[in-house]
Amino acid sequence: MHLYSLLSEMSFNCLKVTFLVSSCLRHQVTPAVASCAARLCSSSSSSSEDHRSHQRVHSLSWKHGLAGLLAGTGAVLAYGLHHHHKAERADTGVQTLKKSSSLPVFSQEEVTKHRSLEDGIWVTYKGGVYDITEFVAMHPGGDKIMLAAGGALEPFWALYAVHNQEHVLEILSDYKVGELNLEDLKKQQARHPVLRINSLKPFNAEPPPEILSDSYITPSAFFFKRNHLPVPQVDPASYQLHVEGLPGGVLTLSLEDLKTRFPKHTITATLQCAGNRRSEMNKVKLVKGLNWGIAAISNATWSGARLRDVLLAAGYKPDVAQWARHVQFEGLDTDVTGTTYGASVPLNKAVSEEGDVLLAYEMNGEDIPPDHGFPVRVVVPGTVGARNVKWLGKIIVSAEESSSHWQQNDYKGFSPGTDWDTVDFKSAPAIQELPIQSAITTPADSATIDRSDETLTVKGYAWSGGGREVVRVDVSLDGGKTWQVAQLRSSEKGQAPEPSPPPGRAWAWKLWEITAPLPPDAQELEIVCKAVDNSYNMQPDTVPPIWNLRGVLSNAWHRVKVKIREDEDEE
Ligand code: MTE
Repeated sequence: MHLYSLLSEMSFNCLKVTFLVSSCLRHQVTPAVASCAARLCSSSSSSSEDHRSHQRVHSLSWKHGLAGLLAGTGAVLAYGLHHHHKAERADTGVQTLKKSSSLPVFSQEEVTKHRSLEDGIWVTYKGGVYDITEFVAMHPGGDKIMLAAGGALEPFWALYAVHNQEHVLEILSDYKVGELNLEDLKKQQARHPVLRINSLKPFNAEPPPEILSDSYITPSAFFFKRNHLPVPQVDPASYQLHVEGLPGGVLTLSLEDLKTRFPKHTITATLQCAGNRRSEMNKVKLVKGLNWGIAAISNATWSGARLRDVLLAAGYKPDVAQWARHVQFEGLDTDVTGTTYGASVPLNKAVSEEGDVLLAYEMNGEDIPPDHGFPVRVVVPGTVGARNVKWLGKIIVSAEESSSHWQQNDYKGFSPGTDWDTVDFKSAPAIQELPIQSAITTPADSATIDRSDETLTVKGYAWSGGGREVVRVDVSLDGGKTWQVAQLRSSEKGQAPEPSPPPGRAWAWKLWEITAPLPPDAQELEIVCKAVDNSYNMQPDTVPPIWNLRGVLSNAWHRVKVKIREDEDEE
C-alpha cells in the first residue's frame, strides 16, 4: 500500500477512535473500552510526540490522560497527512455545519470568557458555538488547540489543513452548544483572541510566536497589527486616492480605477515593525514604546497596482527625478487634531521596476482587512513597517520627506549613549530598509524539555531588509560556543520550494528548523540563533551595544533558555 494511503487509513482510524473514546467518555464507558481503543492506535508509533503528549496530560484525570496518549499518536499520523490533503483542500466538500435553531445564541464576549479548563473551553466555527472542554485532552495536535480557546477555529484550520475532513466536523458537531449572534459573526474575523494585545486603543497586537513558524504565509487574522491611531471605517464605494506633485496635476482614482486601469501585481512580502523585539531592549534599560515580543513581524501575499504604474499615469517622467527625491503617503486615519498618519520613501524605490512597491487592495487573496488598511495600503517591500501606510488617501511626489511625526521624530536609530535630554531627531536618518533579523519561535523561553525526547527541534524565522536574501541561519544549543546550520524554507512545509527571487528582490522571510540531539550532560540549554544575508550582514551578538532610547532595530542574536527534565523527575 502506498505510504500516504496507509497513513491516511491509520489516521482516519485514530480519529474515529478518538471520536469513539470521546463519545464513550462523555457517556461514562468503562476504562477497558477506552484502553482497548487506545492500544489499537498507539501500536503504530512511538515517536517523541507521544512522550510529549503523554507528559502534557500527566496531571489531568485518567480519562484525559488516556485520551491524550491516543491523541499523541493521532497527531503524528494526522500531521503526516497534512500536505497530502493540502492539494485537495480547496475542493473538500467541508461547508457549513448543521444549524440547530433550538440552541441558545451567544455573544462573542460570552464565548471569549471560556478560555480555560476551569471556565470551559469554547470555540466558534462558521457561526456555531462549541464547548470543547472535554475534547481538549484528546486533540491530536496536543495543547495547540488551547490557542483557539474563546475564538474562531477558522484561521487555525487554514493553518492546519488536516482539519478539513468530514469526520473532524462530525467530532466537532457533537460539542455544539449554541450559535454566535449575527453581529459578532460579521465582526469576528477582524481580531482573534489568540492575539497578544499590546494596547487596546489604538489596537496593537502580535500573534503567539509558535504560530508564526507554523505557516509560511501568515493568515491575516494572525498577522501582527500596528496602529498609531483609531482604525478608520472607509467606504469602498466613495473611496478616492489623490496623487499629487506631478506635472500632470492631481490624479484622483477610485478603488475601481485602481483595480481596472492598472495591471494587478502580486508579491509575497514580510512586514516588520521597527519595534519588533523591543522587549529585549527593555530588559537592558527601559525604552519608550510598546513592549513588542518577537512577533511584530508577519508574511503575506499582497496584490494591487504597482505604485510605479500609477505614478507614470499621473505624469511621472525621468526628468521629475531632477527635483523630486521622495514619495509621501498620507493615511485616512487621524488624531484628535485631524492630523493624519504619514510617511515617505525614496523616489527611486517608488518608481523602480525592481522596487515592487504596491498600492495593495488584497492581502492573502482577499480584500485587505480593516486593521491592515482596507481598502488600499502601500506595501513597500524590504522597508520598515512604518512606511507601509494603511488606508491610503494621498500620494505626494516631493523634494522633501514627509513632515509627519513618524518620519521626522520617530522611527530613527541612535547611539546607546543618546538619552531623551540629548537626542536630536534631525541628526539621524529615517529608518527605511531594515537590518538582518532572526528569532526562535519554538521552543519558548523557559520551556521544559523531557530528556526522553532525545532530540530537540528548534524553529524560527529569518528576514533581511532591502530585498537581501537570507542565505544561512546558525543555531547554537550552548549559548554560542558551537553552531549548527538550520534548514531554510521559503514555502509551506512539504510544498516544493519557491524559485529563488531575483537578486535584490527577496521580500519574504525564510522559516528555518533544526532537530539536534539533546546534549547528554546539560540540564539547561541556551539556544541561540543568528542569520546571514547575501551581503553577509550578520546580527550583533548582544543587545547593549545596539540599545537605543526608542527600542527600534532590535536584532541581536535571539536567545532562549530551556530546562531539561531528567526521566527520574517525572511523576
Ligand atoms: N499606516 C497608517 N495609516 N497608520 C498607522 O498607524 N502604522 C504603521 C504602518 N502603516 C500605521 C500605518 C506601522 S508603524 C506599521 S509597523 C505597519 O503599518 C503595520 O502594519 P500592519 O498593522 O498591517 O501589520
